[in-house]
Amino acid sequence: MNRDIRQSFNEVTVCNSEPETEAFGLRLSGVLEAGDVVALTGDLGAGKTTLTKAIARGLGVRETVTSPTFMILKEYRSGQLPLYHFDVYRLQSAEDLYDIGGDEYFDGDGVCIVEWADIVREAIPEDALWIRVGYGDEEETRIYTICNQ
Ligand SMILES: Nc1ncnc2c1ncn2[C@@H]1O[C@H](COP(=O)(O)OP(=O)(O)OP(=O)(O)O)[C@@H](O)[C@H]1O
Ligand SMILES: [Mg+2]
Repeated sequence: MNRDIRQSFNEVTVCNSEPETEAFGLRLSGVLEAGDVVALTGDLGAGKTTLTKAIARGLGVRETVTSPTFMILKEYRSGQLPLYHFDVYRLQSAEDLYDIGGDEYFDGDGVCIVEWADIVREAIPEDALWIRVGYGDEEETRIYTICNQ
């Protein structure tokens, strides 16, 4: 993963509205390079897909990005870099991801974003950027925390 990303971003980003989350995603997209993996964790409906959509927009993806829960993986090729959007909610373990060849996209020609990455933790590259999404006090507050894992 991107070298100085931890220097460019605070550990904790509090987003008080969807547009703020969008701004965070756009800023993140600016530091992502081919081979980077963003591993997202957090409760149901916290804001993993919302962040992914903003990153996609920042990468220039023109297609509508939708949650790939039932497909596990969706690819978007209209941006500057290919975007591989995983949602592994329906998998049990890293083994399941290996079985479908999902890990072959890591360290590849594009950016990978993995929702529910903790389920397949063993398959996630060492240098992935882990971001935990949590709820805040207000209805539209979401807290994005950059973690070590
Ligand atoms: N500040 C915010 N940032 C992100 N989403 C927000 C914010 N405020 C409210 N929301 C709402 O929270 C929901 C987040 O849904 P989203 O699909 O992004 O979550 P998710 O973590 O991907 O869920 P799932 O676990 O089902 O994959 C949306 O309905 C969005 O409108
Ligand atoms: Mg989602």
